[in-house]
Amino acid sequence: MSTKTPWWIRVPVLFFLIFGLMEFFIDSGDKPAILEYPITQFFMLLVLMILIAIELILASIENIMFQTLSEEGKERYLETKSKKYEWTWAKNLMKKLTKSRSIEREGEIVLDHDYDGIRELDNVLPPWWVYLFYATIVFSVVYLVRFHVIGDYTQEQEYEQEVAAAQAAIEEYKRTAKDLVDASTVEFLSDPADLSAGEKIFTTNCVVCHMADGGGGIGPNLTDQYWILGGGIKNVFTTISEGGRDGKGMVAWKQSLKPAEIAQVASYVITLGGTTPANPKEPEGEIWVDPNAPKDSNGTESETEETAPEQMEQATDSTDVAMN
Ligand code: HEC
Repeated sequence: MSTKTPWWIRVPVLFFLIFGLMEFFIDSGDKPAILEYPITQFFMLLVLMILIAIELILASIENIMFQTLSEEGKERYLETKSKKYEWTWAKNLMKKLTKSRSIEREGEIVLDHDYDGIRELDNVLPPWWVYLFYATIVFSVVYLVRFHVIGDYTQEQEYEQEVAAAQAAIEEYKRTAKDLVDASTVEFLSDPADLSAGEKIFTTNCVVCHMADGGGGIGPNLTDQYWILGGGIKNVFTTISEGGRDGKGMVAWKQSLKPAEIAQVASYVITLGGTTPANPKEPEGEIWVDPNAPKDSNGTESETEETAPEQMEQATDSTDVAMN
């Protein structure tokens, strides 16, 4: 019953093999199955115990068979057994890659010059180094032809591609992590789904004071150009999330609405701008002018930042029409 690999290699290898197979076959989304389904932890524990049990059984069978051997057989068996497990294949590979000469055979390659007792061996270049060197030569030829002769793509193109990919990833991330918005990052949401969600939030929470058409009641008119606390998506977001001035009645909605919901209702409020409510409350506050309006911007702003003021300008334009 001689086995080649010792138990301390067999058990972990089998254990992690089963673990890997389990992770591969169980569909557990982003999280590893071992965290997603706690039952798998129990399963792996069971696997470990069974593996250990098998090892123990094998060891005891070996022991029993050993007892049945004759004295001579026992001796022979112990002899083979005492040979430790050796990494023969690793050692052979190492030898192939280094071609080093054992100390006993150094005499064959010693050079005949002698500097005050310091002598030199005529070792061959280690094959691992030589192969690496050949690989760099092949690489350089491919590289030279690909980028300097054919001109596949330039570093600049590569950079732009990567930036574009990153930008796409950011957009994707923003879509999935809408609740990360705050007053400084919020943008006008023009998506109809967002706006109708915002309308719903407005209907449930805000109409008592602002009226269904935003004309105003206890709260100010939200359809005109006049704002007490500042217009524009960012100010409106701040007002809704932090509330109005003390004692006026506009509470901080961040207690009950998620950031994404505040962004939706704020966008909906922006769309009310320029509409004509049934009973408009007289203007309160001042005409709000967007400080980031396109005429002030020096053109370095990103695309997304420019879309919001445009939307707003449209809103104020139509207000003009409505007020005339
Ligand atoms: C209890 C009544 C009340 C409710 C409910 C209410 N508001 Fe207000 N809202 C007010 C008052 C009062 C003000 C004026 C605050 C001030 O003067 O500081 C105001 C101000 C505002 C402003 C700023 C207007 C300006 O001119 O600067 C916005 C935007 C606004 N509310 C949006 C909302 C939204 C969106 C909701 C629903 C989530 C809501 N409000 C719910 C009473 C209310």
